[in-house]
Parts: sequence; structure tokens; C-alpha cells
Amino acid sequence: MFKTLFSLLAVTLLCFGESSAQEISVIQNTSNRQITSLNGSWKYIVDPYDNGYYSYRYTPRSDGFFKDAKPKGPSDLVEYSFDKSQTLHVPGDWNSQNDKLFFYEGTIWYRKLFDYQLPEGKRLFVHFGAANYKARVYLNGELIGTHEGGFTPFDFEITDKVKAKGNDLVVMVNNNRHLDAIPTVITDWWNYGGLTRDVDLVEVPSTFINNYKVQLDPEANRTVKTHVQLDGSQPGEEITLDIPELKIQKMIKTDASGTADFEVKAGKNMTYWSPKNPKLYTVRIRSGQDTVSDQIGFRTIATQGTDILLNGQPVFLRGICIHEEAPLREGRAYSDEDARVLLTWAKELGANFVRLAHYPHNEHILKMADKMGIMVWSEIPVYWTIQWDNQQTLNLAKQQLSEVITRDQNHASIILWSMANETPRSDQRLKFISSLAQHTRDLDNTRLVTAALELKYADKNTLLINDPLGKYLDVLGVNEYIGWYDGPPAKADRLSWKSIYNKPMVISEFGGGAKYGNHGPDNERWTEEYQAEIYRHQTKMLQRIPFLAGMNPWILQDFRSPRRQLPDIQDFYNRKGLISDRGFKKEAYYVLQDFYQKLKEQSNN
Ligand code: GCU
Repeated sequence: MFKTLFSLLAVTLLCFGESSAQEISVIQNTSNRQITSLNGSWKYIVDPYDNGYYSYRYTPRSDGFFKDAKPKGPSDLVEYSFDKSQTLHVPGDWNSQNDKLFFYEGTIWYRKLFDYQLPEGKRLFVHFGAANYKARVYLNGELIGTHEGGFTPFDFEITDKVKAKGNDLVVMVNNNRHLDAIPTVITDWWNYGGLTRDVDLVEVPSTFINNYKVQLDPEANRTVKTHVQLDGSQPGEEITLDIPELKIQKMIKTDASGTADFEVKAGKNMTYWSPKNPKLYTVRIRSGQDTVSDQIGFRTIATQGTDILLNGQPVFLRGICIHEEAPLREGRAYSDEDARVLLTWAKELGANFVRLAHYPHNEHILKMADKMGIMVWSEIPVYWTIQWDNQQTLNLAKQQLSEVITRDQNHASIILWSMANETPRSDQRLKFISSLAQHTRDLDNTRLVTAALELKYADKNTLLINDPLGKYLDVLGVNEYIGWYDGPPAKADRLSWKSIYNKPMVISEFGGGAKYGNHGPDNERWTEEYQAEIYRHQTKMLQRIPFLAGMNPWILQDFRSPRRQLPDIQDFYNRKGLISDRGFKKEAYYVLQDFYQKLKEQSNN
């Protein structure tokens, strides 16, 4: 009851316009909790007309598919059946699991049956890693909650609704695109629909640790700041923070709202997390019956003039962009193994940084980045032309920021929160995105805020960074396609760069397309030689930019896009990958690898 009231409060505050940033209530770090996975085969019904929800009068039905009805007698009329339906694998998108669903956008109903003996005094939540795009969740025929947004987690309490036997969980998932949504109707990635990430039952004590943050204070040297939010507690509950390796053990009491904020000094022997030494510490938080343990790295990230400082030292971000697609099969990535392959390719490239484009990716890849020592740019899909003057759209963007920051605030790998990608300049846009930046700073002041901006030419040989949005950012992300959408590759040789800001710039995208195995002269589009030529000219140009602090070529691997229809070349793939959709490395991969190798030899990260 308390949790629902809390999230209602948070949402209410969000819906009625500008508000101080409220935490979203979603259980963190579920993989270290007592969980029962509901992954596997789920029955499904394709419902292009939402017939399972609306009557022929387009009014919500009381006898919709969420009832999972069965004919009671021979003359009983029931015109759907989950029992007789096919299955889809969860986690997973539906588009890559059945050719008939490849282009499908609309509603699909999922059903999972389960038994659950809930011990006395325990509470139970059903937790979704993500569902694209809108989800209505029913248990035993009753609506338990809804969620909008395809890339962030959500959960609902089912303590009073779960039965020992024969629970019927039905989820209506719809991935239709909407102008007022986040993302909006046009994207250059596939609109994979479905229960795309893990679904778990999470059992917790009546009072549990709902939200916690354990990070180094960016202002104070070697000070670990801890914030804990209990759910279901009385004032004055004891909370203990335990970091055995650092001999830190601190007990404190919560305030009336079940929250505790405190600081402890981490001794000289604390090792900072870095790509060279991705040291993670076992951190335990205990309160009453509940204990949550996590693997957390401690590092600071800041800017100084045009430098980015990791643990107080300038660092150059050798990056690559990644979409959340499985490296060695079709469809969305969702597992540890997917994350390991993608980040291993990035590491082999010589990268110490990845941009997870253009939306929050699954948590497996963040845990992997923490372990492998790869810094991360995390982003919400405020992409291209959003409805800037629509308050609901702003609330959605803030909700997604709150959800991703709540989920990921303890990942040392994440150093940048990105607010937007390639958005057209206007006052409304400035107001919209600057308020997102403030929302982010209110929720997390231990990381840097950025966005991917577009370029302007001051004159034909000079690029100028003067987007007014730059004022609200710590790091300027810039997308440019010199050599692909903007002139021939050699154009880069005559360009110089200027910025009105004394801030670090990261090239958040550059690149060009090539079909793996397609060879020819280096001025012939779509050949590996042309793509490699772009990389040669780009890497030379980038070294001439005095305020450059990092780069993220577009993109590690070819990925599905509904906007790429050139037969025998694209075939619904964006071909700007350095690796083909089948995992083969293109010539440009080695050009960048050589360049990063040289940079690596010059740096200590
Ligand atoms: C844009 C955009 C990407 C897109 C890329 C491209 O910059 O941010 O999402 O895929 O360009 O055109 O390939």
C-alpha cells in the first residue's frame, strides 16, 4: 500500500508541471534480491485492433482478454484463447521471433501462469526490466498497473492479490508510435515491441530497502555519500552500511519519511575505479529483515576547462556508439552474454568508453561495463523533433530520467547522462531540455550532463559550436558526418573548429556506411574502402581540435532501421557499423583500432 501511494505521489508531482526532482519508486538491483524469474515462453495473442481491450463501440471492455476467459459450456462464446495460442520468448522483442511480426506495430497480449507461496509477513512485486512501449498489467483479471516508456524498469506490488496456485498474469503491450511520445514517431532504429527484458517476481520483507545510492562525493575528497530510502518503515529504523574491504561499517537511523543520508570517510587504501583498474567493492546495506548487497566502484568525474577529469586526472574518451541489438542474432540484446560480446568488441577496438544510443539499455551491459572498466554515456530518447511545448511529453521525459537514474545511480561506469540527440534549435526546445538537465542535476550531482548537438558552419572552412543549449551542459556532444552526409571524406582536411564555450567537447557521432565484403575504389559509396577513408580523414581532423575530450564513432555494428531501404546494400540495416550484422569486421574497424592503439600508448587510461 505504502509503495503505491509513494509512486502515486511522485507521479502526481510530475504530472502537474515543474517540480523538484522526485525519486521514482522502482526496486533497484533486483538481481541481488530474492527473485523468481518469469522468463521463458509466454502465450501471446496478436491484437491489431485492440479487440481484447475495446468493444466495437470503442469503449473499454469489462470482459477483455485480461480475463483469460474459457468457455464454461458447449454453447459458451469466447472468441480468443491463450491456451491455444503460440508462444513468444521473454525477454525478447516479438519482431525477430516470427517473420509475420517483423514489421508489426500494435498490441500483443502476453500471458504467464504461475504459482507462488508467499510467506507470512513478506511482500511481493512483479518487476519488468522494460516493455516497449506501453504496458497494461493484469493479475487474475484485475488491472494492477500501467507504464509508458520502452526502455526503463517498472514494478507493481501484488502482495494482496497473489494466490498460492494458478496466478494468471496478462500484459497488454503496445508499441505504436505517437507524436507526443518519447521517442516520437521517426527514429533511425527498429521499433522492437514486446517484453524485451527480464520479468521477475521480487519477494521482500514488509520493510525493505527500496532505493539506495552509495557514491563518492564529487566535492569532498574520499568521502562516500550514502542515501537510503526504506519502504514500509516506521521512523527511526536502523540502517547499516557495510564495506568490509574498506573496514567501513556505519549505523544510522531513518527520518520520518524512512530516509537516511550520511557520509563516511574512505581511507587512503581505497582504490579508485578506472578503465585501467575497474575495482569494485562489495557494499552491503542492512535494515531490519532486509539486506541488499552490490558491487560498486568509487570514482569521481568532473570537468576543468576543456578537460574531462576522471579521479582528478584528464582522460580522453576513446569511444564507440552501440545500439541495444544482439551481436550474434536478430533482435534486441538482453543478456549478460550479449553484453560481454558487445563490450569485448569495443575493448578489442581499444575503446575505454561507449555511448549506449539512444535510450537506456538493459542493466546487464552496465554491470559488464563496471567489471570491464568501460566508461558509459547513458541517454534518454529525446531524439530529433519532440513536441517541445507539450507538458505531458516533458513529464514523460522526466519520468524516464528518474527511472534510469534510480536504476543506474550506483554504476561507476556511467559518467554522462545525455538529455537529447540532434534536436532543432528553438526557445521551447531550450526550455524543455534545460529543464531536463536541471531535473538530472537534482537527482544526481555526481555525474556530468551532456547532449548530442548539431553543427553550424561559421564559414565554409570553420565549424562553430554555439548552440545555446551548450550553456546548460557540462560536456558538449557533437554529431557530424563530414565525408558522408557532408562532402567527401577529404573535406575534413580543410576544416577548423571553434567553440563559444570553454567546455570539453565529445564527438558523439561520425562515420559512414559500407556493406561488408563490398570492395572498390575509396571514392565509391558503400565500399569498405570509402568508409575507411572517412575514418582516416576524421581521425586526422579530430586531433587538430584543441577542446576535444573524446569521440564516439557511429557505430560498432550494423543495426536494423526502418529508414534504410536500399536493396542489396541496406535491406533495412543501417550499414555504418564497423562490424557487419553477422559479426565480420570491416576495414574501417582496423583504421580506428590503430588510431586508438596510438592514443592508448600516449595516455594512462
Ligand atoms: C544520426 C542519428 C543516428 C542515425 C545516424 C545515421 O546522427 O543520431 O540515430 O542512425 O545519424 O544517419 O546513420
